Amino acid sequence: MAKYKIAVLPGDGVGKEVVEAAKIVLDALKLDAEYIYGDIGWEFWKHEGNALPERTIQLLKETDCCLFGAITSMPKEEAVAELDKELQDKGLIYFSPIVKMRQMFDLYVNLRPCKAYPGNPLNYREDIDIVVFRENTEDLYSGVEFHPVPDEVRQALDKHSPAMKKFAGAASSDMAISLRIITRKSAQRITRAAFEYAKKTGRKSVTLVEKPNVIRETSGLMLREARKIAKEYPGIAFWEANIDAMCMWLVKNPQDYSVLCTSNMFGDIVSDLAGQLVGGLGFAASANTGDKYGVFEPVHGSAPKYTGMYKVNPIATIFTSKLMLDWLGETEKATRIEQAVIKVLQEGKVRTYDLGGKATTLEVAEAIAEKL
Ligand code: NAI
Ligand code: MG
Repeated sequence: MAKYKIAVLPGDGVGKEVVEAAKIVLDALKLDAEYIYGDIGWEFWKHEGNALPERTIQLLKETDCCLFGAITSMPKEEAVAELDKELQDKGLIYFSPIVKMRQMFDLYVNLRPCKAYPGNPLNYREDIDIVVFRENTEDLYSGVEFHPVPDEVRQALDKHSPAMKKFAGAASSDMAISLRIITRKSAQRITRAAFEYAKKTGRKSVTLVEKPNVIRETSGLMLREARKIAKEYPGIAFWEANIDAMCMWLVKNPQDYSVLCTSNMFGDIVSDLAGQLVGGLGFAASANTGDKYGVFEPVHGSAPKYTGMYKVNPIATIFTSKLMLDWLGETEKATRIEQAVIKVLQEGKVRTYDLGGKATTLEVAEAIAEKL
């Protein structure tokens, strides 16, 4: 029996192509793993009314971790219009399979390294090395939303929040509410994960990115819990920044920052910004991890414009495989991937279009595999 069982969910569009590329690299590494392919994405929504079929959830439960490509998704009305005829009036509602996986397997950490690799012509500066820890299950993405606002909800809010007075003139049908919910447990565990990572990797600082001066309760809870946890790590500097100022600092002095820790929505924003400083979507890898399971995915989507062309950069997904190996404890193999990518970048011969080259997705993967 192989040492690891890994679920592979290529998904839609270029997701299939970049996973095929990453698999070339994993195979060259001779990782002792059994790879089991599963279904996810738009095809399964269209024909089965479920983008994350039950059999796929079962597969995830039976494996150690998952390598995931990308999916296509669409807003509510468009999604229903794309369903097969016989599924049209079944009242099916599209949900994001990624959000569902994160919540179902309690993958509370979204980790996104943003490092300037030597030889990457897209680097904003050469000395950027940031890792974003984004809380992955709560905040504005909890899905607790109302439109129109039910009377009971409206009445409770009017009763308990003086700030509701300014909305007195608005009808509940003309109002939409998305709740930002943050629990103490989540605030604690994301901060602890960030500090533990900093400790393990010898990083000098953790910056909590919130907005507690305005969003007093939720950002306030994050900050208070983070301050307590920071005390347990005296060797690591603890900095606090507001999300808006952080975006400015990242453009001004990104080299000053190391680990950023934040909630779901701010993390979504700040990690895109940080990612773009070191090459953008062709390089951006991510890990969704909990205490027991991990789903590893490139940040980019299915890029319909390029589907079938084998044109996009596979490095994001190859770095994603590296994160998976790190998480499995296969550090030596993870480092070899990183070194091989650096060599190919520095040689500058085999490059996809985003780096000004003409190589295909699989040619880049093969060049990296060769360097292993
Ligand atoms: P996208 O990330 O798919 O592509 C946007 C653009 O970024 C592409 O047209 C291309 O120019 C560039 N790009 C993306 N990946 C690249 C790569 N590996 N190398 C080089 N360039 C790359 O985002 P878009 O167009 O907004 O969304 C397309 C579909 O993907 C939508 O259905 C969206 O909902 C879905 N999506 C899925 C995600 C996921 O599966 N995690 C994440 C983001 C979008
Ligand atoms: Mg995003």
